[in-house]
Amino acid sequence: MTFDRKIRIAPSILSADFADFGREIQAIEAEGADWVHVDVMDGHFVPNITFGPPAVAAFRRHVKTIMDVHVMIAPVDPFIDAFAKAGADILTAHVEAGPHIHRTLQAIRAAGMKAGVALNPGTPAEAVAHVLDLADLVCVMTVNPGFGGQKFIDMTDKMRRLRQMIGDRPVHIQVDGGVDPETAPLVVAAGADVLVAGSAVFRGGSVANPAPYGQNIRAIRAAAEAAAG
Ligand code: DX5
Ligand code: ZN
Repeated sequence: MTFDRKIRIAPSILSADFADFGREIQAIEAEGADWVHVDVMDGHFVPNITFGPPAVAAFRRHVKTIMDVHVMIAPVDPFIDAFAKAGADILTAHVEAGPHIHRTLQAIRAAGMKAGVALNPGTPAEAVAHVLDLADLVCVMTVNPGFGGQKFIDMTDKMRRLRQMIGDRPVHIQVDGGVDPETAPLVVAAGADVLVAGSAVFRGGSVANPAPYGQNIRAIRAAAEAAAG
């Protein structure tokens, strides 16, 4: 993975057909996804349960791009090796998930993955000030995590602040929650470069009719690129 700030669209398979992940992943990649975003939920850190490392390992066989795994679990550290073995390229943990985000990010890198740190809407940018040299990505949540299809919460002030704090470091700003062609320009203008989108990518399509996935990805990308500096 080489670093640059070009716009990347990362469809979240939380909005895919859960009985058909392999073909859904193939479809979104064929239709232009840059990364595949995988939302792991534990029913404890967030009020929903999705899937764990064995399922993620099965997804890996279908991902040709980058597998971007967002863990909404607490604790994280006991599962880092399992997600590395499952083939995650990027593992993003929440700063709110435990007292030792610094150790967690070190452990993610030591396991051979890129390290991401996510911030819930109520958490300030300053919470990551002392770990920016240990992170490859900061994920700004624009919904309270747990479910797809929620309304976008404006966190553009936080993104601008983070963009300043990051400076020249090779750290992506990812935005996750409620991203669509209307909100994408706002977050890109505020410094985001990786856009996660679930419902706005999968709406209207299916593995039998994947063309809408491509139209949706292109609409988000066009809106985002028009706002990029
Ligand atoms: C929220 C997840 C998101 C979610 C985004 O808990 O982390 O990745 O799938 O879904 P949309 O784009 O539908 O808001
Ligand atoms: Zn996510």
